[in-house]
Amino acid sequence: MATLKPIDLSGLNDERLAPSVRAQIAESCEKNGFFQVINHGVPVELTDRLRAVGRKFFDLPKDEKLVYAGKPVIGAEGYGSRMVLNDAEPKFWREFVELHTLPLSERHYNYWPQQPAEFRETVEEYTAALLDLAHRLLAVISENLGLKPTYLKEALGEAQQNIVFQCYPPCPEAGKTLGLPAHSDVGGITILMQEGDGLQVAAASDTWELVPNYPNAFVVNLADQIEIITNGRYKSANHRAIVNSDRTRRSYVTFYHPAKDQKIFPAPELVDATAGPLYRELFYLEYLQALAAGRFGGKRLVQSFAINNPLIS
Ligand code: OGA
Ligand code: NI
Repeated sequence: MATLKPIDLSGLNDERLAPSVRAQIAESCEKNGFFQVINHGVPVELTDRLRAVGRKFFDLPKDEKLVYAGKPVIGAEGYGSRMVLNDAEPKFWREFVELHTLPLSERHYNYWPQQPAEFRETVEEYTAALLDLAHRLLAVISENLGLKPTYLKEALGEAQQNIVFQCYPPCPEAGKTLGLPAHSDVGGITILMQEGDGLQVAAASDTWELVPNYPNAFVVNLADQIEIITNGRYKSANHRAIVNSDRTRRSYVTFYHPAKDQKIFPAPELVDATAGPLYRELFYLEYLQALAAGRFGGKRLVQSFAINNPLIS
């Protein structure tokens, strides 16, 4: 999957290079909804600090981490761990901290670690930089689709931004266990920084391809609402995290979700006049409810919002 070689975003500021950078992004979006970027404008000094606060937090004794424990439901804020070995089927093997960063009214600081002391300000600075990067990427992706630069940003509405610190400790049964089972992300666009290899993306013919870890790169993946808004032109890719037996792997995942009351629908410009839209209109809240209800029977959740159409697989 040659497109997972990082795309150099600094080229966007250079008239001669910009068309090729845009074309590389368009090709990756069309192929698998996954790409990596370097020279993305987020200072290395800041990404280093973000990883450092994550590492320091996970290294705390368990009882100090449990002070921030969240409820065991999807999307709950706070600290959690799922360390389950099971012979029958792969299970989660990870610790995590999930925090809501936007809108500001959703920042529940009681879940934000106070150790290390610089945790809060680092996360605030990092997620502000990632919001800006998400907007820049959404603008390029919109234009690649022939839409106005602000189209996707407006279509997603007021951003609900979350950050998840993922930590996958060494696993005694690494071959039989997954850090995070196969899924596609549900919102708009996800920007992930990984420390160590372990992220895999679904490739053609049911195989998994490792997303190589490049220094100072971000992995970007399109999520389910972009698939709906682009009327299936861009797919949200299935991906998963594997674990290994000898070292801890961490990743830092920043999600950009639509507002819950945002109406999501295929962009009219991308709907074929004869075939019609491939997905039905929905409020994002409905999508979250469907996710929580788990009623998608082995299929991709986004398929349950498809209008019965043989073109959708
Ligand atoms: C996620 C995710 C992969 C990883 O958090 O949604 O896909 O490598 N994480 O941690
Ligand atoms: Ni994911």
